[in-house]
Amino acid sequence: SAISPPPLFRGKKILGDYDIKVEQAEFSEINLVSNSNGTCSVDLQVMRNATKVMRSFRPDFVLVRQHAFSMAQNEDFKNMIIGLQYAGVPSVNSLESIYSLSDKPWAFAQLINNQKRLGSDKFPLIDQTFYPNHKDMITTPSFPVVVKIGHAHSGMGKVKVDNASDFQDIASVVAITQTYSTTEPFIDAKYDIRVQKIGADYKAYMRTSISGNWKSNTGSAMLEQVAMTDKYKLWVDACSDIFGGLDICAVKAICGKDGNDYITEVMGSSMQLIGDHQAEDKQLISEVVLAKMTQALASRSSAGARSPQGQMATTAQPQQVCFTLLRLVHMCPLFPLFQSTPPFVTPIPVLLLTPSHPILLSSIPLPPFSCTSLPNLPPPPPPLSKSQSLTNAFNAFSDSSFFRGGSAPVASDGQDEAKAETIRNLRKSFVSLFSD
Ligand SMILES: *[C@@H]1O[C@H](CO)[C@@H](O)[C@H](O)[C@H]1NC(C)=O
Ligand SMILES: *[C@@H]1O[C@H](CO)[C@@H](O)[C@H](O)[C@H]1NC(C)=O
Ligand SMILES: *[C@@H]1O[C@H](CO)[C@@H](O)[C@H](O)[C@H]1NC(C)=O
Repeated sequence: SAISPPPLFRGKKILGDYDIKVEQAEFSEINLVSNSNGTCSVDLQVMRNATKVMRSFRPDFVLVRQHAFSMAQNEDFKNMIIGLQYAGVPSVNSLESIYSLSDKPWAFAQLINNQKRLGSDKFPLIDQTFYPNHKDMITTPSFPVVVKIGHAHSGMGKVKVDNASDFQDIASVVAITQTYSTTEPFIDAKYDIRVQKIGADYKAYMRTSISGNWKSNTGSAMLEQVAMTDKYKLWVDACSDIFGGLDICAVKAICGKDGNDYITEVMGSSMQLIGDHQAEDKQLISEVVLAKMTQALASRSSAGARSPQGQMATTAQPQQVCFTLLRLVHMCPLFPLFQSTPPFVTPIPVLLLTPSHPILLSSIPLPPFSCTSLPNLPPPPPPLSKSQSLTNAFNAFSDSSFFRGGSAPVASDGQDEAKAETIRNLRKSFVSLFSD
Protein backbone atom coordinates (compact mmCIF):
# COMPACT_ATOMS: atom_id res chain seq x y z
CA SER A 1 0.00 0.00 0.00
CA ALA A 2 1.13 3.53 -0.69
CA ILE A 3 -0.17 4.67 2.67
CA SER A 4 2.27 5.14 5.45
CA PRO A 5 1.02 3.11 8.36
CA PRO A 6 0.02 4.82 11.58
CA PRO A 7 2.93 3.07 13.40
CA LEU A 8 5.11 5.92 12.20
CA PHE A 9 3.43 7.88 14.94
CA ARG A 10 2.78 5.06 17.36
CA GLY A 11 4.51 5.38 20.68
CA LYS A 12 5.71 8.85 19.79
CA LYS A 13 5.39 11.58 22.35
CA ILE A 14 5.67 15.29 21.93
CA LEU A 15 6.77 17.65 24.66
CA GLY A 16 7.23 14.64 26.88
CA ASP A 17 3.66 14.02 27.93
CA TYR A 18 1.55 13.95 24.83
CA ASP A 19 0.67 10.63 23.26
CA ILE A 20 -0.42 10.65 19.65
CA LYS A 21 -3.53 8.94 18.46
CA VAL A 22 -4.22 8.34 14.81
CA GLU A 23 -7.50 8.62 12.97
CA GLN A 24 -7.89 8.62 9.22
CA ALA A 25 -10.51 9.32 6.61
CA GLU A 26 -11.03 11.11 3.35
CA PHE A 27 -12.12 14.73 3.13
CA SER A 28 -15.46 13.45 1.90
CA GLU A 29 -15.92 11.49 5.12
CA ILE A 30 -15.63 14.40 7.50
CA ASN A 31 -17.69 17.40 8.36
CA LEU A 32 -16.79 20.16 10.73
CA VAL A 33 -18.03 23.19 12.63
CA SER A 34 -15.71 26.01 13.62
CA ASN A 35 -16.27 28.78 16.11
CA SER A 36 -14.52 32.11 16.52
CA ASN A 37 -13.50 31.03 20.03
CA GLY A 38 -11.06 28.65 18.37
CA THR A 39 -12.95 25.37 18.55
CA CYS A 40 -13.21 23.13 15.54
CA SER A 41 -15.41 20.05 15.96
CA VAL A 42 -14.89 17.39 13.37
CA ASP A 43 -17.43 14.66 12.74
CA LEU A 44 -16.10 11.59 11.06
CA GLN A 45 -18.40 9.03 9.53
CA VAL A 46 -16.77 6.15 7.72
CA MET A 47 -17.43 2.58 6.74
CA ARG A 48 -14.74 0.19 7.92
CA ASN A 49 -15.01 -3.51 7.29
CA ALA A 50 -18.75 -3.10 6.67
CA THR A 51 -19.14 -1.32 10.01
CA LYS A 52 -20.15 2.29 10.30
CA VAL A 53 -17.70 4.18 12.47
CA MET A 54 -18.66 7.60 13.84
CA ARG A 55 -16.49 9.90 15.85
CA SER A 56 -16.36 13.51 16.93
CA PHE A 57 -13.25 15.29 18.06
CA ARG A 58 -11.40 18.58 17.97
CA PRO A 59 -8.34 18.50 15.77
CA ASP A 60 -5.12 19.99 17.09
CA PHE A 61 -3.19 19.54 13.96
CA VAL A 62 -3.76 18.64 10.34
CA LEU A 63 -1.63 16.99 7.72
CA VAL A 64 -3.28 17.39 4.35
CA ARG A 65 -2.15 14.76 1.88
CA GLN A 66 -5.21 14.84 -0.34
CA HIS A 67 -6.07 17.40 -3.00
CA ALA A 68 -8.47 19.91 -1.53
CA PHE A 69 -9.73 20.78 -4.98
CA SER A 70 -9.96 19.09 -8.34
CA MET A 71 -12.32 20.29 -11.02
CA ALA A 72 -11.89 17.10 -13.03
CA GLN A 73 -12.98 14.90 -10.16
CA ASN A 74 -15.63 17.39 -9.18
CA GLU A 75 -14.15 17.53 -5.70
CA ASP A 76 -14.04 20.78 -3.82
CA PHE A 77 -13.07 20.58 -0.17
CA LYS A 78 -11.88 24.16 0.13
CA ASN A 79 -14.70 24.73 2.61
CA MET A 80 -13.02 22.24 4.94
CA ILE A 81 -9.73 24.11 4.59
CA ILE A 82 -11.57 27.35 5.41
CA GLY A 83 -13.16 25.73 8.46
CA LEU A 84 -9.85 24.50 9.81
CA GLN A 85 -8.23 27.87 9.18
CA TYR A 86 -11.19 29.62 10.84
CA ALA A 87 -10.44 27.78 14.07
CA GLY A 88 -6.70 28.34 13.68
CA VAL A 89 -5.83 24.64 13.53
CA PRO A 90 -2.13 24.31 12.74
CA SER A 91 -1.30 22.27 9.69
CA VAL A 92 1.30 20.77 7.37
CA ASN A 93 1.41 22.38 4.86
CA SER A 94 -0.08 25.63 6.12
CA LEU A 95 -3.80 25.92 5.39
CA GLU A 96 -3.14 29.23 3.71
CA SER A 97 -0.75 27.60 1.25
CA ILE A 98 -3.16 24.72 0.62
CA TYR A 99 -5.90 27.19 -0.17
CA SER A 100 -3.60 29.19 -2.43
CA LEU A 101 -2.43 26.09 -4.30
CA SER A 102 -6.05 25.29 -5.10
CA ASP A 103 -5.79 27.38 -8.23
CA LYS A 104 -2.79 26.53 -10.34
CA PRO A 105 -2.54 29.94 -12.03
CA TRP A 106 -2.54 31.58 -8.57
CA ALA A 107 0.41 29.39 -7.63
CA PHE A 108 2.03 30.07 -11.00
CA ALA A 109 1.90 33.79 -10.19
CA GLN A 110 4.28 33.01 -7.32
CA LEU A 111 6.58 31.23 -9.73
CA ILE A 112 6.54 34.34 -11.90
CA ASN A 113 7.67 36.32 -8.85
CA ASN A 114 10.45 33.80 -8.30
CA GLN A 115 11.59 34.30 -11.87
CA LYS A 116 11.54 38.09 -11.50
CA ARG A 117 13.57 37.84 -8.33
CA LEU A 118 16.10 35.23 -9.46
CA GLY A 119 16.21 35.87 -13.19
CA SER A 120 15.19 33.46 -15.91
CA ASP A 121 18.68 31.93 -16.04
CA LYS A 122 18.36 30.65 -12.51
CA PHE A 123 14.63 30.13 -12.50
CA PRO A 124 13.64 29.22 -16.06
CA LEU A 125 9.85 29.37 -16.02
CA ILE A 126 7.84 28.21 -18.99
CA ASP A 127 6.19 30.99 -20.98
CA GLN A 128 2.51 30.91 -20.03
CA THR A 129 -0.58 32.95 -20.84
CA PHE A 130 -3.61 33.13 -18.55
CA TYR A 131 -7.19 33.56 -19.74
CA PRO A 132 -9.79 34.22 -16.99
CA ASN A 133 -12.43 32.82 -19.35
CA HIS A 134 -12.84 31.81 -22.99
CA LYS A 135 -13.63 35.29 -24.26
CA ASP A 136 -10.08 36.36 -24.92
CA MET A 137 -8.97 33.07 -26.34
CA ILE A 138 -8.87 34.50 -29.83
CA THR A 139 -5.48 33.40 -30.98
CA THR A 140 -2.05 32.51 -29.70
CA PRO A 141 1.24 33.64 -31.20
CA SER A 142 2.47 30.20 -32.16
CA PHE A 143 1.46 26.57 -32.47
CA PRO A 144 1.58 23.87 -31.24
CA VAL A 145 0.37 25.05 -27.87
CA VAL A 146 -0.71 23.22 -24.71
CA VAL A 147 -4.01 24.40 -23.27
CA LYS A 148 -4.72 23.66 -19.60
CA ILE A 149 -8.32 24.08 -18.57
CA GLY A 150 -9.20 24.90 -14.97
CA HIS A 151 -7.63 23.32 -11.91
CA ALA A 152 -7.14 19.60 -12.37
CA HIS A 153 -4.52 16.97 -11.68
CA SER A 154 -2.91 14.02 -13.41
CA GLY A 155 -2.76 15.65 -16.81
CA MET A 156 -6.50 16.08 -17.02
CA GLY A 157 -8.07 19.07 -18.74
CA LYS A 158 -4.90 19.43 -20.77
CA VAL A 159 -4.91 19.48 -24.57
CA LYS A 160 -2.23 19.96 -27.21
CA VAL A 161 -3.46 22.15 -30.05
CA ASP A 162 -1.78 22.43 -33.44
CA ASN A 163 -3.60 25.22 -35.22
CA ALA A 164 -5.94 28.15 -34.85
CA SER A 165 -9.06 26.30 -35.89
CA ASP A 166 -8.55 23.59 -33.28
CA PHE A 167 -7.73 26.31 -30.77
CA GLN A 168 -11.13 27.86 -31.40
CA ASP A 169 -12.72 24.46 -30.83
CA ILE A 170 -11.01 24.23 -27.47
CA ALA A 171 -12.01 27.81 -26.63
CA SER A 172 -15.61 26.74 -27.17
CA VAL A 173 -15.07 23.88 -24.73
CA VAL A 174 -13.58 26.31 -22.19
CA ALA A 175 -16.69 28.46 -22.68
CA ILE A 176 -18.98 25.84 -21.21
CA THR A 177 -16.64 25.09 -18.28
CA GLN A 178 -16.91 28.67 -17.05
CA THR A 179 -13.41 28.50 -15.72
CA TYR A 180 -9.99 29.87 -16.56
CA SER A 181 -7.38 28.36 -18.79
CA THR A 182 -3.73 28.80 -19.62
CA THR A 183 -1.64 28.21 -22.70
CA GLU A 184 2.02 27.24 -22.93
CA PRO A 185 4.18 26.51 -25.93
CA PHE A 186 4.45 22.78 -26.61
CA ILE A 187 7.92 21.71 -25.51
CA ASP A 188 9.47 18.79 -27.33
CA ALA A 189 10.68 17.05 -24.19
CA LYS A 190 13.80 15.01 -23.64
CA TYR A 191 12.60 14.20 -20.12
CA ASP A 192 10.66 15.62 -17.20
CA ILE A 193 12.10 16.63 -13.86
CA ARG A 194 10.60 16.59 -10.41
CA VAL A 195 12.52 18.04 -7.50
CA GLN A 196 10.98 17.47 -4.10
CA LYS A 197 11.71 18.81 -0.66
CA ILE A 198 10.35 17.28 2.52
CA GLY A 199 11.59 19.18 5.54
CA ALA A 200 15.30 19.41 4.86
CA ASP A 201 15.47 16.40 2.53
CA TYR A 202 15.91 16.91 -1.20
CA LYS A 203 15.38 14.42 -4.01
CA ALA A 204 15.33 14.83 -7.78
CA TYR A 205 13.75 12.50 -10.32
CA MET A 206 13.89 12.29 -14.06
CA ARG A 207 11.13 10.73 -16.05
CA THR A 208 11.57 9.70 -19.67
CA SER A 209 8.66 8.60 -21.79
CA ILE A 210 8.94 5.18 -23.36
CA SER A 211 5.60 4.96 -25.09
CA GLY A 212 5.92 8.45 -26.52
CA ASN A 213 2.61 9.79 -25.28
CA TRP A 214 2.84 13.54 -25.21
CA LYS A 215 1.46 13.49 -21.69
CA SER A 216 4.34 11.97 -19.84
CA ASN A 217 2.07 10.65 -17.11
CA THR A 218 0.17 8.59 -19.67
CA GLY A 219 1.62 5.43 -21.12
CA SER A 220 4.86 3.99 -19.89
CA ALA A 221 7.91 5.87 -18.81
CA MET A 222 11.17 5.35 -17.04
CA LEU A 223 11.74 6.92 -13.66
CA GLU A 224 15.21 7.48 -12.28
CA GLN A 225 16.47 9.32 -9.27
CA VAL A 226 19.10 11.85 -10.33
CA ALA A 227 21.66 13.88 -8.44
CA MET A 228 20.53 16.96 -6.56
CA THR A 229 22.34 19.75 -8.31
CA ASP A 230 22.67 23.33 -7.10
CA LYS A 231 20.35 24.29 -9.92
CA TYR A 232 17.59 21.96 -8.75
CA LYS A 233 18.11 22.92 -5.12
CA LEU A 234 17.68 26.57 -5.97
CA TRP A 235 14.43 25.84 -7.83
CA VAL A 236 12.85 23.88 -5.01
CA ASP A 237 14.14 26.22 -2.29
CA ALA A 238 12.58 29.15 -4.12
CA CYS A 239 9.31 27.23 -4.35
CA SER A 240 9.37 26.19 -0.71
CA ASP A 241 9.36 29.88 0.24
CA ILE A 242 6.06 30.77 -1.38
CA PHE A 243 2.83 31.35 0.53
CA GLY A 244 4.66 31.75 3.81
CA GLY A 245 6.62 28.52 3.37
CA LEU A 246 5.82 24.99 2.19
CA ASP A 247 7.09 22.23 4.50
CA ILE A 248 6.48 19.67 1.78
CA CYS A 249 6.74 20.64 -1.85
CA ALA A 250 7.93 19.70 -5.30
CA VAL A 251 8.67 21.61 -8.47
CA LYS A 252 8.11 20.14 -11.90
CA ALA A 253 9.97 21.03 -15.05
CA ILE A 254 10.52 19.86 -18.59
CA CYS A 255 13.96 19.47 -20.10
CA GLY A 256 13.44 20.14 -23.78
CA LYS A 257 15.29 18.60 -26.68
CA ASP A 258 16.62 22.13 -27.17
CA GLY A 259 18.58 21.58 -23.95
CA ASN A 260 16.62 24.20 -22.01
CA ASP A 261 14.72 23.65 -18.77
CA TYR A 262 11.15 24.85 -18.40
CA ILE A 263 9.67 25.02 -14.89
CA THR A 264 5.95 24.33 -15.09
CA GLU A 265 4.44 23.80 -11.69
CA VAL A 266 4.79 23.72 -7.92
CA MET A 267 3.04 21.13 -5.75
CA GLY A 268 2.36 21.13 -2.04
CA SER A 269 1.74 18.52 0.64
CA SER A 270 -0.83 16.68 -1.48
CA MET A 271 1.91 15.64 -3.88
CA GLN A 272 2.20 11.91 -4.32
CA LEU A 273 5.35 10.08 -3.45
CA ILE A 274 7.31 8.46 -6.23
CA GLY A 275 10.36 6.33 -6.77
CA ASP A 276 12.18 3.84 -4.59
CA HIS A 277 12.38 5.88 -1.40
CA GLN A 278 8.74 6.31 -0.56
CA ALA A 279 9.10 4.62 2.82
CA GLU A 280 11.83 7.09 3.69
CA ASP A 281 9.69 9.96 2.38
CA LYS A 282 6.81 8.88 4.61
CA GLN A 283 9.17 8.79 7.56
CA LEU A 284 10.38 12.29 6.65
CA ILE A 285 6.80 13.53 6.45
CA SER A 286 6.03 12.12 9.89
CA GLU A 287 9.12 13.85 11.26
CA VAL A 288 8.04 17.16 9.77
CA VAL A 289 4.61 16.68 11.34
CA LEU A 290 6.04 15.80 14.76
CA ALA A 291 8.32 18.81 14.69
CA LYS A 292 5.51 21.16 13.68
CA MET A 293 3.17 19.66 16.26
CA THR A 294 5.72 20.22 18.98
CA GLN A 295 6.13 23.79 17.81
CA ALA A 296 2.39 24.38 17.72
CA LEU A 297 1.93 22.92 21.17
CA ALA A 298 4.79 24.93 22.61
CA SER A 299 3.50 28.21 21.23
CA ARG A 300 0.03 27.36 22.46
CA SER A 301 1.24 26.59 25.95
CA SER A 302 3.18 29.83 26.12
CA ALA A 303 0.32 31.86 24.64
CA GLY A 304 -2.08 30.37 27.18
CA ALA A 305 -5.75 31.09 26.95
CA ARG A 306 -5.24 33.96 24.55
CA SER A 307 -4.08 31.65 21.80
CA PRO A 308 -6.46 30.91 18.96
CA GLN A 309 -6.53 27.34 20.27
CA GLY A 310 -8.05 28.42 23.55
CA GLN A 311 -9.66 25.02 23.74
CA MET A 312 -6.25 23.46 24.06
CA ALA A 313 -5.09 25.73 26.82
CA THR A 314 -7.96 24.50 28.93
CA THR A 315 -7.97 20.85 27.92
CA ALA A 316 -4.21 20.57 28.24
CA GLN A 317 -4.56 20.74 32.00
CA PRO A 318 -5.08 17.02 32.73
CA GLN A 319 -1.98 14.98 33.39
CA GLN A 320 -2.58 12.53 30.54
CA VAL A 321 -3.08 14.22 27.21
CA CYS A 322 -3.27 12.53 23.84
CA PHE A 323 -3.16 13.64 20.27
CA THR A 324 -5.20 11.67 17.82
CA LEU A 325 -3.92 11.53 14.31
CA LEU A 326 -6.69 11.31 11.74
CA ARG A 327 -5.53 10.37 8.28
CA LEU A 328 -7.83 11.51 5.50
CA VAL A 329 -7.00 9.30 2.57
CA HIS A 330 -8.10 8.43 -0.90
CA MET A 331 -8.04 4.68 -0.57
CA CYS A 332 -9.45 3.74 -3.95
CA PRO A 333 -8.70 5.00 -7.43
CA LEU A 334 -10.97 7.69 -8.77
CA PHE A 335 -12.04 7.74 -12.36
CA PRO A 336 -12.31 11.34 -13.37
CA LEU A 337 -14.38 12.80 -16.11
CA PHE A 338 -11.73 14.36 -18.27
CA GLN A 339 -9.90 11.18 -18.99
CA SER A 340 -11.23 8.06 -20.59
CA THR A 341 -8.64 5.93 -18.84
CA PRO A 342 -8.15 5.40 -15.13
CA PRO A 343 -5.28 7.61 -14.00
CA PHE A 344 -4.01 5.15 -11.39
CA VAL A 345 -4.49 7.55 -8.56
CA THR A 346 -2.79 6.06 -5.56
CA PRO A 347 -4.08 6.84 -2.11
CA ILE A 348 -3.34 10.27 -0.76
CA PRO A 349 -3.58 10.41 2.99
CA VAL A 350 -4.61 13.36 5.07
CA LEU A 351 -3.74 13.36 8.72
CA LEU A 352 -5.48 15.22 11.48
CA LEU A 353 -3.81 15.28 14.85
CA THR A 354 -6.34 15.75 17.57
CA PRO A 355 -6.37 15.98 21.33
CA SER A 356 -8.01 13.19 23.22
CA HIS A 357 -11.44 14.05 24.51
CA PRO A 358 -12.50 11.07 26.57
CA ILE A 359 -16.18 11.64 26.01
CA LEU A 360 -15.92 12.30 22.32
CA LEU A 361 -13.20 9.97 21.23
CA SER A 362 -13.81 6.29 21.09
CA SER A 363 -10.82 4.16 21.91
CA ILE A 364 -11.82 1.38 19.52
CA PRO A 365 -9.06 1.22 16.94
CA LEU A 366 -10.14 1.56 13.35
CA PRO A 367 -9.61 -1.57 11.31
CA PRO A 368 -7.39 -1.04 8.29
CA PHE A 369 -8.93 0.49 5.21
CA SER A 370 -10.29 -1.86 2.66
CA CYS A 371 -11.45 -0.72 -0.73
CA THR A 372 -14.25 -3.24 -0.73
CA SER A 373 -15.71 -1.88 2.47
CA LEU A 374 -15.80 1.74 1.40
CA PRO A 375 -19.24 3.06 0.56
CA ASN A 376 -20.15 4.71 -2.73
CA LEU A 377 -17.25 3.34 -4.65
CA PRO A 378 -16.71 4.72 -8.10
CA PRO A 379 -17.48 2.31 -10.92
CA PRO A 380 -14.79 -0.25 -11.70
CA PRO A 381 -12.18 0.84 -14.21
CA PRO A 382 -12.64 0.01 -17.86
CA PRO A 383 -10.29 -2.72 -19.11
CA LEU A 384 -6.73 -1.57 -19.44
CA SER A 385 -5.24 -0.96 -22.82
CA LYS A 386 -1.89 -2.52 -23.58
CA SER A 387 0.13 0.54 -22.74
CA GLN A 388 -1.78 1.14 -19.55
CA SER A 389 -1.18 -2.43 -18.47
CA LEU A 390 2.45 -1.87 -19.12
CA THR A 391 2.30 1.32 -17.14
CA ASN A 392 0.62 -0.42 -14.30
CA ALA A 393 3.21 -3.15 -14.37
CA PHE A 394 5.88 -0.63 -13.56
CA ASN A 395 5.20 0.02 -9.96
CA ALA A 396 6.97 3.34 -9.96
CA PHE A 397 4.89 4.61 -12.83
CA SER A 398 1.52 3.63 -11.62
CA ASP A 399 1.66 6.90 -9.78
CA SER A 400 -0.13 9.15 -12.15
CA SER A 401 0.56 12.18 -10.08
CA PHE A 402 4.14 12.28 -11.11
CA PHE A 403 4.34 15.44 -13.14
CA ARG A 404 0.68 15.67 -12.53
CA GLY A 405 -0.81 18.24 -14.82
CA GLY A 406 2.58 19.31 -16.06
CA SER A 407 2.84 20.27 -19.67
CA ALA A 408 5.50 17.73 -20.32
CA PRO A 409 4.65 16.46 -23.71
CA VAL A 410 6.94 14.07 -25.46
CA ALA A 411 6.98 14.08 -29.22
CA SER A 412 6.09 10.83 -30.91
CA ASP A 413 4.83 9.25 -34.08
CA GLY A 414 1.43 8.75 -32.55
CA GLN A 415 1.30 12.36 -31.50
CA ASP A 416 -1.45 13.49 -33.83
CA GLU A 417 -3.52 10.49 -33.11
CA ALA A 418 -3.05 10.97 -29.38
CA LYS A 419 -4.03 14.58 -29.71
CA ALA A 420 -7.09 13.81 -31.74
CA GLU A 421 -8.05 11.18 -29.22
CA THR A 422 -7.52 13.59 -26.38
CA ILE A 423 -9.83 16.11 -27.98
CA ARG A 424 -12.41 13.43 -28.70
CA ASN A 425 -12.26 12.25 -25.11
CA LEU A 426 -12.45 15.75 -23.80
CA ARG A 427 -15.55 16.43 -25.86
CA LYS A 428 -17.11 13.17 -24.74
CA SER A 429 -16.29 14.03 -21.17
CA PHE A 430 -17.94 17.37 -21.39
CA VAL A 431 -21.01 15.80 -22.88
CA SER A 432 -21.26 13.47 -19.90
CA LEU A 433 -20.44 16.31 -17.55
CA PHE A 434 -23.42 18.33 -18.64
CA SER A 435 -25.84 15.63 -19.63
CA ASP A 436 -27.14 15.00 -16.12
C1 LIG B 1 -5.48 21.53 -37.56
O1 LIG B 1 -4.79 20.44 -37.00
C2 LIG B 1 -5.52 19.24 -37.02
C3 LIG B 1 -4.72 18.22 -36.30
O2 LIG B 1 -3.36 18.27 -36.66
C4 LIG B 1 -5.83 18.85 -38.47
O3 LIG B 1 -6.58 17.67 -38.49
C5 LIG B 1 -6.59 19.96 -39.13
O4 LIG B 1 -6.79 19.67 -40.49
C6 LIG B 1 -5.83 21.26 -39.00
N1 LIG B 1 -6.67 22.34 -39.51
C7 LIG B 1 -6.20 23.30 -40.26
C8 LIG B 1 -7.18 24.35 -40.69
O5 LIG B 1 -5.05 23.34 -40.63
C1 LIG C 1 -16.64 27.71 21.82
O1 LIG C 1 -17.95 27.83 21.32
C2 LIG C 1 -18.60 26.58 21.09
C3 LIG C 1 -19.93 26.87 20.40
O2 LIG C 1 -20.65 27.86 21.08
C4 LIG C 1 -18.74 25.85 22.41
O3 LIG C 1 -19.39 24.61 22.21
C5 LIG C 1 -17.36 25.63 23.01
O4 LIG C 1 -17.46 25.04 24.27
C6 LIG C 1 -16.63 26.95 23.13
N1 LIG C 1 -15.27 26.64 23.52
C7 LIG C 1 -14.59 27.39 24.35
C8 LIG C 1 -13.19 26.95 24.66
O5 LIG C 1 -15.04 28.40 24.86
C1 LIG D 1 -13.80 -7.68 9.39
O1 LIG D 1 -14.98 -8.39 9.60
C2 LIG D 1 -14.84 -9.80 9.56
C3 LIG D 1 -16.21 -10.43 9.68
O2 LIG D 1 -16.98 -9.76 10.63
C4 LIG D 1 -13.90 -10.25 10.69
O3 LIG D 1 -13.73 -11.65 10.67
C5 LIG D 1 -12.56 -9.56 10.51
O4 LIG D 1 -11.70 -9.89 11.57
C6 LIG D 1 -12.74 -8.05 10.43
N1 LIG D 1 -11.48 -7.44 10.10
C7 LIG D 1 -10.97 -6.44 10.80
C8 LIG D 1 -9.67 -5.93 10.34
O5 LIG D 1 -11.55 -5.98 11.78
